[in-house]
Order: sequence, then structure tokens, then C-alpha cells
Amino acid sequence: MSHNRVEPGHESPLKASRLSFIPERLGDMVILLIRFGILVCLVASISLALHSAFAKPDRWFPLPEHIHTVQNISVIDSGPTNISHILFGIAGSSNTWHDRSNYSKLWWKPNTTRGFVWLDKKPEILHDDMLLPYQISQGWRQFQYVHSASAVRIARIVYESFKLGLPNVRWFVMGDDDTVFFPENLVTVLGKYDHNQMYYIGGSSESVEQNVMHSYDMAFGGGGFAISYALAAQLDKMMDGCLSRYYYFYGSDQRVWACVNEIGVPLTREVGFHQLDIRGDPYGLLAAHPLAPLLSLHHLGQLNSLFPNQTQIHSMEKLISAYDADPARIVQQSFCYDHKHRWSISISWGYTIQIYPLLLIAADLQMPLQTFKTWRSWKNGPFTFNTRPMSSDPCQKPAVFFLDEVTKVGKSGSVTIYKRHEGKEGKCTRKDINNVEVERIRVSALKLDPEYWKNVLRRHCCQLLGGGSIKNGSMHIRIRKCRPQETVTA
Ligand SMILES: *[C@@H]1O[C@H](CO)[C@@H](O)[C@H](O)[C@H]1NC(C)=O
Ligand SMILES: *[C@@H]1O[C@H](CO)[C@@H](O)[C@H](O)[C@H]1NC(C)=O
Ligand SMILES: *[C@@H]1O[C@H](CO)[C@@H](O)[C@H](O)[C@H]1NC(C)=O
Ligand SMILES: *[C@@H]1O[C@H](CO)[C@@H](O)[C@H](O)[C@H]1NC(C)=O
Ligand SMILES: *[C@@H]1O[C@H](CO)[C@@H](O)[C@H](O)[C@H]1NC(C)=O
Ligand SMILES: *[C@@H]1O[C@H](CO)[C@@H](O)[C@H](O)[C@H]1NC(C)=O
Repeated sequence: MSHNRVEPGHESPLKASRLSFIPERLGDMVILLIRFGILVCLVASISLALHSAFAKPDRWFPLPEHIHTVQNISVIDSGPTNISHILFGIAGSSNTWHDRSNYSKLWWKPNTTRGFVWLDKKPEILHDDMLLPYQISQGWRQFQYVHSASAVRIARIVYESFKLGLPNVRWFVMGDDDTVFFPENLVTVLGKYDHNQMYYIGGSSESVEQNVMHSYDMAFGGGGFAISYALAAQLDKMMDGCLSRYYYFYGSDQRVWACVNEIGVPLTREVGFHQLDIRGDPYGLLAAHPLAPLLSLHHLGQLNSLFPNQTQIHSMEKLISAYDADPARIVQQSFCYDHKHRWSISISWGYTIQIYPLLLIAADLQMPLQTFKTWRSWKNGPFTFNTRPMSSDPCQKPAVFFLDEVTKVGKSGSVTIYKRHEGKEGKCTRKDINNVEVERIRVSALKLDPEYWKNVLRRHCCQLLGGGSIKNGSMHIRIRKCRPQETVTA
């Protein structure tokens, strides 16, 4: 049947309709065209709607520059946080920057670290080796204050850094010109948090009196603190009004804290930030660092040198030479026991080793020796952590070793050598005590993967090599992950 329809015999009606089609159906044609047009419009508007729902909105609705930045960076780029995402804002002043720049030189890496030192006016002397680019703070003189105008200026650094509108900034990290940062560890720590949420991350003071006077909820500025992009965007809207409200406050960090409080964001504590509000020798603190990455050290100019008989700058260069070899492991503690000699050994990797001629429990070994006093009153406490006194009895006192050499071994290991520091203490003469006759300690370790800090934490173990033998005054120790059932005593 269907074959017949296309037979030549049926040609003529077909022809006829063809011929009559154009003139007779002109009206239909217009309707058809209109329908087609509507269809095209429909398809176009649907695709437009879909497109605007899933594509970057700024193509159709141009946004102001800052929101533009939010769209591109904060929302769309969700790759892992790296050093390029941190914008440092260092509080400086033109009079002291020349001297203080020695501290930033220790950690600043040109073309890698981003940020500025913020100065009150153009410095008179500018040496080529002052690596940080500088900015002159603007608009801060208009604010009322009771204590110091520079506190207002410094409090505005977050705001002014945000106003620069630089691309790909996830975190604004504030610090003083005498703060030494450990940037790789900052990247690791900030990488745990979502910069699109409002975060205020920092640390307290070590001295209770300081926290009581300011606040336990405040991030102390010298130790450094981090403000996420999302929080900076909120602060941007309210900072100047806020600074006017808190004109009677003392410090810059206190002003930032007050503003952040108005937004309602609490402090996220990271114990690797060190305000170092202590007097004397920071040794005890760094020899027993909590199990957390080292992020910053402050007040170094006011404290004893980390290494004896060296300038503080030299001391820091030494510590940083170990940090460069294994950033995540710097000042991380491990304990082991020499059962033959009945010694307890505490290692703070990259800094110091203590050998006690007696068996001490782990809880004591991880408690800082109090080699320092409180910041304001120069007293023996209280601090925001437990301390134990340094004994003057040579039979209780540890033999102390300091980092001497660092060698990288291949891509993933290191050997650090620690040399005995001869103090003035006498010798222990008790018969039941084995005096520590060791001059050098070699420590081998694999590089600590920054991923380590994302897992449930556990201190690493250490192990005496060569059966704990001491050859020519030298001992060899290995630091490694503990075995599942292993404890320091078994
Ligand atoms: C950091 O991450 C961004 C992407 O988020 C990437 O473009 C950039 O190359 C990275 N920089 C470094 C130094 O790894
Ligand atoms: C910084 O270094 C310069 C030159 O190396 C030196 O003159 C100055 O005393 C140093 N300042 C500090 C605080 O160490
Ligand atoms: C840093 O970048 C500048 C240009 O942007 C270049 O001249 C300089 O050599 C770079 N420095 C280093 C240490 O890579
Ligand atoms: C943001 O994206 C637009 C286009 O999508 C682009 O023109 C602009 O350069 C980007 N801005 C930054 C800071 O990356
Ligand atoms: C301290 O250093 C100086 C010079 O570098 C040296 O002469 C002196 O012997 C050192 N003192 C000690 C106790 O190491
Ligand atoms: C013993 O140690 C000293 C210094 O620690 C070194 O100079 C000497 O070469 C060593 N002797 C042997 C036999 O290894």
C-alpha cells in the first residue's frame, strides 16, 4: 500500500500542491516563522538561564572589583592552600625598620612570600637587602586614641591589606617586625581551615597576667594571627566605625579582637603561635614544644639567645637551617630511655637534646623546664601551661646538647648533630648514678610529611642505635613513627 503512494501515477496531486503552496500558504508561513522565532527565543532564554545559573555571573552583571575577586578566587579556586595564598601584613615603623628587618630577613623568601611591612612614613634609609616591600599606612591619623596612634594604625593593617584587592588571597596573616614566622607550617595549619568561612586564628600569651589584663579570647598580635578572606571582607565594612568605638583600648591586637567580637567570631587557637610573653631564657619552652607545628616566635630581641654564646640572629639562622631541612619536624619532641645507663633522653628536633641521669616519666619530660619568668611582673608564674623547676642538683640536672650541624640525606631524610653544652655545674658523685659521658649525638630521621598534622596526633618514638653504645663520646639515635603497641617504656 505505501509503495503505491510514491508511484508515478500519483505525481500530479503532489505537483499541484507544490505549486500552490507558496502563494496560498503565505499566512501559514508567517505563523510558522513566528513559531520558529518563539522556539529560538525559548531555547536561547533557557540556555541563557542555565548558563547564568552555572557560569560566572559577572559576565552579565558586572560586579564591583572586590566581589569580583571573591567570585574568582574564594569560590571557584578550591585547590590546596599554598604559600601564594597568604598575604602577610607586618607592623613596622620607619624609625625601627632598619634594625628590625633583620628578623624578617630570616624567613622572608622574595618572589614566594607575599605581603608588606606597613610603615608610618617613608623610611629615610632603605637598603637593598631589606627584602620586604613596604606600604605607607593611610588614613589612620583621623582617629581618636588614648594610648597610642600607632595602635590604631597597626589595627588597620588587615583592613588596608584587604583594600589592596590583590588576587588569590585566602588568608591575611598579621605579625610584628620582630616576629619570625615559619611559613611552610603556616600553610599546613591554615590549609586545615576553609578561608570562605570566617576564621580568626592565633594564640594567647604565655603569662596568665597578660591574658587576664587583655583577654584569653584574644589572638596576641606579636605571636601573629590569621584572618580568613571571608572575615576580612566583614571587617572591611565595619573597621573604621569599630576603631572609633574602641578609641580607649590599649593595643592594636585588642582593637582587632574587639571588632571580630562584634561580628561574633571566636578565637580558633593554634598553639604553634608564640607571643613569647616571657623574660629570660625561652629554652624550656622550645625544648618541650606541644605536639603542634611551630608557627612563629616573637620578642626574640628581649630574650636570651636560643643558643648559648651566640647572637639571637645567629641562633635563629641555626634553628632555621634545621627547619629548612624538615619544616614539619622543627622542635618536635621525642623521648627514649637508655636502660643500660638508666638515662632519660628528650629530643627537641633541630634544637636541643637533654639527657637526664635518671628515669623520668613522659609527663615530666613533656613539661617545660621553667627557664623564664612572667612578662610583666618577672615572677615564677603562673603561666598558661605547667612548668617544672630546673634543679640545681647535678644528679638531677640534664646534660644539655645544642644543634651543631644539619645534613639532608637524599630527598627524604636528615642527620642532625647536637654538641654538649658545658655549663658551670659540678659533677654528680653519687655511686648509683651513671654520669652522662657523651659529647655528640647524631640523630637520623625521615622528613616529616605535613600530612602528619592532619591525622590523630601521636608523638614520634626514638631508638638508640648500635645497642646504645657510646663510641668516642658519640651516640646515635633514630627518630621514627612508633609501632602500634609501642610506648616509651616498653
Ligand atoms: C598555589 O595554588 C594555585 C591554585 O590555587 C596555583 O595556581 C599556584 O601555582 C600555586 N602556587 C604554588 C607556589 O604552589
Ligand atoms: C641588623 O643587622 C645590621 C647589619 O647586619 C646590624 O648592624 C644591626 O645591629 C642588626 N640589628 C639587630 C637588631 O640585630
Ligand atoms: C624576583 O622577581 C623579579 C621580577 O619580578 C626578578 O627580577 C628577580 O630576579 C626575582 N628574584 C628571585 C630571587 O627570583
Ligand atoms: C576573574 O575572572 C574574570 C573573567 O572570568 C577575569 O577577566 C579576571 O581577570 C579574573 N580576575 C582575577 C583577579 O583573576
Ligand atoms: C663564646 O664565643 C666566643 C667568641 O665566639 C669564644 O671566644 C668563647 O670561648 C665562647 N665561650 C663559650 C663558653 O663557648
Ligand atoms: C673522636 O671525636 C673527636 C671529636 O668529637 C674527633 O675529632 C676524632 O676524630 C674522633 N676519633 C675517632 C677515632 O673517631
